[in-house]
Amino acid sequence: MKKIIIAVDGFAATGKSTVAKKIAAALHYIYIDTGAMYRAVTYYVQKQNSTEDIDVAQLIDSLPNVNIHFENGEHGQQIFLNGINVTNEIRESKVNNVVSKIASVEAVRNFLVAQQRSMGKERGIIMDGRDIGTVVFPEAECKFFLTASPEIRAERRHKEQLEKGNLESFEAVLENIIARDHQDSTRSINPLRKADDAIEIEVSTLTIDEVYRLMMDKIQSIV
Ligand code: DC
Repeated sequence: MKKIIIAVDGFAATGKSTVAKKIAAALHYIYIDTGAMYRAVTYYVQKQNSTEDIDVAQLIDSLPNVNIHFENGEHGQQIFLNGINVTNEIRESKVNNVVSKIASVEAVRNFLVAQQRSMGKERGIIMDGRDIGTVVFPEAECKFFLTASPEIRAERRHKEQLEKGNLESFEAVLENIIARDHQDSTRSINPLRKADDAIEIEVSTLTIDEVYRLMMDKIQSIV
């Protein structure tokens, strides 16, 4: 079977990572959640700065000190920042509220995109994010772009957060999703955009299994 690169882009909380993980398991592919990498950099910056204000010049200087790696553990894929497991910490609302801002810094994007490209050198990889099909792997053989209304996405994210014991209101989750959509799609560097050759899937009325089936049918027609 041919090993390819699969790019999964789209808006926050469309189920990209759930379905990408399922596809990776079925194909024995490597799965990379690039959003987690932007979140890890954000968490690093927040640890370095006691104030809410982010010093972008200082952030750029400190990037060589940021070491990110993934490991597959008992509880799924774990992300490590300078050797420390930050898988849970990077999902907290403190990170949610600032990550889009950090992801709009050109030096941060260049730093992470270079690492993402090197992870895909051997192919046999499925990567999810916002710019995978447009910037990281414009040559990917298979590209998907997932969309759904902000309300549907906020409902899913809110439910997930409640299950984790995070008591943020639905309104706060929706507000964060709308703000991130805006920032991610209007930033000047590598904005969230569907690649011309990506297959768009509107997931609002579909189950994860239905999205998975649609994507696998397409992938299996290529590999
Ligand atoms: O997928 P996520 O919600 O965990 O992503 C967190 C943030 O990182 C999101 O607001 C946009 C940004 N991001 C990005 O700019 N480029 C990527 N390839 C992945 C995520």
